[in-house]
Amino acid sequence: MSIVSGTRTDQRLGFADQTEEVRVAELAVSGAVPAWLSGGLVRVTPAQMDFEHRSVTHWFDGLAMLNRFGFDGGAVSYASRFLDTDARRAALASGGRSIDGFATDPCRSLFQRVQSTFSPDLTDNANVNLTRLGDEYLAMTETPIPVRFDPETLATLGHDEGAAAFGQITTAHPHHDPVTGELVNFAAQLGRRSEYRVYARRSTADSRTLATMPVREPAYMHSFAITPRFAVLLENPLVVNPLKLALSGKAFIHNYRWKPERGVRIHAFNRATGALHRSWTADPFFVFHTINAFEDGGDLVVDLCAHPDASVIDLLNLDGLRAGTNAPQDPRPLRLTLPLTGGPVASRPLADVDFELPRIDYRRRNGHDYRYAYGVSSAGSAFLKRLVKLDVADGTYATWDEPSRWAGEPVFVPRPGAEGEDDGVVLSVVLDAEAGRSFLLVLDAGTFEEIARAQAPHHIPFGFHGQFFSGR
Ligand code: CO
Repeated sequence: MSIVSGTRTDQRLGFADQTEEVRVAELAVSGAVPAWLSGGLVRVTPAQMDFEHRSVTHWFDGLAMLNRFGFDGGAVSYASRFLDTDARRAALASGGRSIDGFATDPCRSLFQRVQSTFSPDLTDNANVNLTRLGDEYLAMTETPIPVRFDPETLATLGHDEGAAAFGQITTAHPHHDPVTGELVNFAAQLGRRSEYRVYARRSTADSRTLATMPVREPAYMHSFAITPRFAVLLENPLVVNPLKLALSGKAFIHNYRWKPERGVRIHAFNRATGALHRSWTADPFFVFHTINAFEDGGDLVVDLCAHPDASVIDLLNLDGLRAGTNAPQDPRPLRLTLPLTGGPVASRPLADVDFELPRIDYRRRNGHDYRYAYGVSSAGSAFLKRLVKLDVADGTYATWDEPSRWAGEPVFVPRPGAEGEDDGVVLSVVLDAEAGRSFLLVLDAGTFEEIARAQAPHHIPFGFHGQFFSGR
């Protein structure tokens, strides 16, 4: 007879706090982890949602914890550690009353947030994504206060203060330019006159503006796309009056309004000159994640995960996720074809499958024509669950799925000397809801079949993104 409550034997366990920080030198492994896999899969997850006096109300507002699966000669180690941020210290000291996040309403005015470029009210709870910038490793959220960390020990090393110059809102999805070595991102500077700014950074101390564009009502944008020539912004029809954002006292995203009549406005900036090459308008949808973009003859092609509308944000409210009452929406992989000399936008689904948390071989294929995308699909279940390998050339797909298992973002790692685009492995942290803990799954990216799994000592809450950092 099980004494485990129902909330801990299905996907709801993925939204339960995990406050234990551990280091395990060698995990139990079944199958064979390739000996060439050397380095660490480091992910960041919201891991503490509950505090003495209150809980956060949205999944996006849990306190950031780093998890690392280390690979060395076929052995797998594990470590987890909270980011030691101002946001965490304040939350623990105030019993949660200090939390002022993406969608958890603050206990105080937001006025300072937009008045000051680098305000203490901007959260440094960098729980969305990780990247490398020069010799630094950064955890990021959508405020311009990345947190530097050690990718081996997971120790927090302080703020990256070089990102705040470009605006108050940025993305946690920068792109590496393989030619210049720069990290390309964009920000929104909010004020009486607001503007978008595309910028590039070579290090935490060396950055430049690539392009700017005035904007009256900035859109919420979680990611963007690049090609060798262009930076491509996709304005969701979810927009904000910057002055209301400053004065409302509501949580960040609750100030944005859904205006489907605007459609999705797409802007391609020439990265060399900063000029706006062209803008297009597509029928309305809501996008968190682009998949890839590339030029094809006279067209700019942009692939992305399209939600019908922005209600997906409310569907990620923590109460509903923990109660199991929030059905996820149905994001579809969508291809937009944008004529570079002007003309209407063509759009078509890439496949008949729901698809989110997309990854490709970004190191070799970002900005170029490509064939394979990896993602997670709910397939009608209560949350993102099964892994999908999508062939964007013909819309066919392969899946990995097991009962009571809930998979996270699939990260592709190429085999050294790889020739084919899918010559390598796909890594995913999977919640085993029956066992009450998580494991690291290793799939052969070519066949999409399991080659190994390594058992983590505890459950790892569902998170958003992570990166594989090669061994040093
Ligand atoms: Co994201």
